[in-house]
Amino acid sequence: MSNVASRMEAEDNKLYLPVPGVKLQDLLDWQDPDQRNHRHLVHVSNPNHELKVSFDSMNSAESHVHRKCFGQAVDLNDDTIALFRIGKEVYATQAKCPHAGGPLHLADIEELVLGQVSLRCPWHKWTFNIDNGCSISPPGRNVVARTYPVKVGSGGELRIGFESFGPSAFEMDF
Ligand code: FES
Repeated sequence: MSNVASRMEAEDNKLYLPVPGVKLQDLLDWQDPDQRNHRHLVHVSNPNHELKVSFDSMNSAESHVHRKCFGQAVDLNDDTIALFRIGKEVYATQAKCPHAGGPLHLADIEELVLGQVSLRCPWHKWTFNIDNGCSISPPGRNVVARTYPVKVGSGGELRIGFESFGPSAFEMDF
């Protein structure tokens, strides 16, 4: 590790854990126009709730259990985290929407004015700033989705920064 890299690690004081099985190149790049047309087709585990808001993204008899999206959910450090790629940057938020628990990893990515990029939750269409997780609309809610810093290695390896290890790291096997 270079001196610069080790200094940066020390500065933000986070615990960076590798994301198993997912690299930068495995995530669809929202910035790439071609990839926008070939989004992940994912299984939706709560189709009844999803149906309320996602008819526009569905086009087959079976589509009530699938949805196209850019994000990808990963389990790490006792948490489920949504990853989104924009160019060479990866953004990470909690995968459960802070409004009512919707699947934020299935969010649409939208560009707002002033260069802000937001996530639009598929359940009730609330939007959150992808960078800091603050709710944007509806206005005045002051709800924040937890966000995590992500470091991208030279080979596309991803590491997510946490405040500490999750509880299971301290469980003892007897
Ligand atoms: S659960 Fe996400 S907007 Fe309601």
